[in-house]
Amino acid sequence: MPFSHLPDSSVIARAPGKINLVLRVGPRRADGYHDLLTCFQAVDIWETVALSPADEFSIAVSGDVNLGEIPLDGNNLAMQAVAAVARATGRTDAVAILIDKKVPVGGGMGGGSADAAATLIAINELWHTGLSQVELLTIAAELGSDVPFLLEGGTAIGRGRGEILEPIKSLAFNWVIVPSMEHLATPGVYGRLDELRADVDVVLPESLPDTFLDALYRGDPEALAPHLINDMAQASLDLEPELEATLEKGLQCGALAVMVSGSGPTSAMLARDDAHANAIQASLRDQGHHCVITSSPARGAHLVRR
Ligand code: C5P
Repeated sequence: MPFSHLPDSSVIARAPGKINLVLRVGPRRADGYHDLLTCFQAVDIWETVALSPADEFSIAVSGDVNLGEIPLDGNNLAMQAVAAVARATGRTDAVAILIDKKVPVGGGMGGGSADAAATLIAINELWHTGLSQVELLTIAAELGSDVPFLLEGGTAIGRGRGEILEPIKSLAFNWVIVPSMEHLATPGVYGRLDELRADVDVVLPESLPDTFLDALYRGDPEALAPHLINDMAQASLDLEPELEATLEKGLQCGALAVMVSGSGPTSAMLARDDAHANAIQASLRDQGHHCVITSSPARGAHLVRR
C-alpha cells in the first residue's frame, strides 16, 4: 500500500480518469486554445492523492504506470493546485503530496488533471478553507481544461476549451483501455491537428446528435458505437502510427467500436457488457497487449479519508 505510513493528519482524495466519447475540435483560437464540443465520461480508473502537513513542500509519485515523464516540481499539476488554493485563501503552510497513479500517463485520459482535481478536494479539507464547489471549479478551470470535469465526474457535454460543462444522464458502459508505450503531450497533438487541417475550413458542430444522447440515456452500447468520434485521432495517429494496428486489433477482437482517447495515444474499446470486455481483454493479452477493463460513468473527485 503506497499510503500505509501516513500520519493521522493526512487527507486522501481520489479522482477518475476520463474518455471523450465525442471530441469535436474547432479552429485554433486567438489565445492558442481550441473551442471544443465534447462529451466527457469519467471511468472507474483512479488517481489517489494524499496530502500531509509538512515542514517543506514535497511531491512523490507511485503507481503501476510508466512514471518517467511526471514532473516532481512546481510543474506538477497537483503542486499547482495547492499553490492556487494558497493564493485564493492566503494560506502558506507546506504540504507533502503523494500521488498513486492508475491512469495511463501522457495518454489522453486526463491523469494529470485528475491529480489536480483530487488535490483541490484534499487541500480544501486539510486546510479547512471551506471553498465551495463553484469556487473549486473556477480554480480548476485555471489549472487545466479537463480539471473542472474531473471534479464533477459522471457524464457531461463540454464546451469552450472544455471547462464549460453541462451534466447529462448516462447508464453504464464497459470498456477495454489499451495504454500505449508512447506518451503524447497534448499541445503537440493540437499543433499537429492544426497542421493537418491547415487547408480545411473547420466548422465546430453546435450540438450532439439526439440519437447519441439517447444511446447514453438508455445505456445501449450497440446504439452508442457508431457515434464515437474523435477529431484529434488523425493527429494522434500521425504522431503515433502504431496506434492504427492497436485499434484494428480491437475490432478484430470483437469490440463494438474503437477510438483514440482524447489526445491519445491510449485506445478505448467499447464492449457490449462486462463479459464481452473480459473476452476482448483476454484476446488482446494473448496478442501481447497490456490492457485493463473498466466501466463508466464514474463519480468525480471525492475524499476517501479525512
Ligand atoms: O488546458 P490545458 O492546460 O490542459 O491545455 C494544454 C494545452 O492543450 C494548451 O496549452 C493548448 O495548447 C492545448 N489545448 C487546446 N485547446 C483546448 C485544450 C487544450 O489547444 N481546448
